[in-house]
Amino acid sequence: MAVISFARGVPAPECLAVDDLADCARAALERDGRTILSYGPSPGYGPLREWLAARHEVDESRIFLTNGSLQGFVFLAERLARGKRVLVEQPSYDRPLKILRELGAEVVPLRCDDDGLDPDALADALSAGEPPAFLYLIPTFQNPSGRTLTADRRRRIVELAREHGLFVLEDDPYGLICYEGEPLPSLHELSGGEIGYSSSFSKTIAPGLRVGYAIVPAALTRKLEELVASTYITPALLAQATVYEFLRRGLFEPNLERVCALLKARRDAMLDALERELEGRARWNRPEGGYFLWLELPDEIDASELLTRSSEAGVTFVPGADFGGPPSSARLAFSFVSPAEIDEGVRRLAALVAPAAAPV
Ligand SMILES: Cc1ncc(COP(=O)(O)O)c(C=O)c1O
Repeated sequence: MAVISFARGVPAPECLAVDDLADCARAALERDGRTILSYGPSPGYGPLREWLAARHEVDESRIFLTNGSLQGFVFLAERLARGKRVLVEQPSYDRPLKILRELGAEVVPLRCDDDGLDPDALADALSAGEPPAFLYLIPTFQNPSGRTLTADRRRRIVELAREHGLFVLEDDPYGLICYEGEPLPSLHELSGGEIGYSSSFSKTIAPGLRVGYAIVPAALTRKLEELVASTYITPALLAQATVYEFLRRGLFEPNLERVCALLKARRDAMLDALERELEGRARWNRPEGGYFLWLELPDEIDASELLTRSSEAGVTFVPGADFGGPPSSARLAFSFVSPAEIDEGVRRLAALVAPAAAPV
């Protein structure tokens, strides 16, 4: 029996525009090969930085391209977080949590609900203890919960950051992977560009390209350049030039529409299957975009123990505890598998949550 993975937060293979990207890579090499096949500037490929600066209405010097956005997080954490207090959402993306702990940071999880981070929890954390090095948050279609921070809360968090001189890093790889609803302004925009921002072409084009970026305060760019120079010297310019060619040809928007339609069908398949199989026996949210939804099982179910049994039954997921969530929670990724597999995977999972009563 083939295992159905709700664990993998990766795009379905059909999302990847292989032929267009092959054409773009060739065109980039033919047009600018002598530049992109050499060492280059540590903040990345100039034309792509320029494009991003225009899109985000910031000075180009603040755009830092990295080999995937997680690399940018590693650099920022190295510079800012060693041995310091860092505020995060509870639950939050597991990789940054691990990176911060390995740097000896004190990771302080802040209360969240269906509307995202609770600003009162942030206010409490800011009025007690050491001033934090920064707040890391994923306000839109969050990994792992799929939740989105409401507009009012965004404003309140921007105000709190300003009042307390708090550096905030808004991680936004999923914002454009939107299936319905009005897009909300980013915290970065609401703050007039003061709040740090990171994003990536991993979800909008292809993760294997490893093209991510951060928008950082001017004072940090020099420090990041030093780290890049002593790590990989120059980020992968061929990948960045390929992305730039994809943008230049006007392929980005139609590709995004296509990817969103493919993923929306998967999100809908998961919601339909959950409703059919688990209505009344568990709670889950309805994410308006992104890759994930958050499943809350009855308190007596331990999701790690459920995973052991479900793996044998041919379906996997990630226990919510891996992200700092409660033991009975789980992250279900709908991005990778087909709608038919989602249907079957939810059926297998539901049979374990409350097996049908034996006939009398
Ligand atoms: C919230 C979040 N940030 C960052 C990343 C890393 O993305 P990239 O591929 O750009 O390194 C991911 C990947 O899943 C993610 O979910």
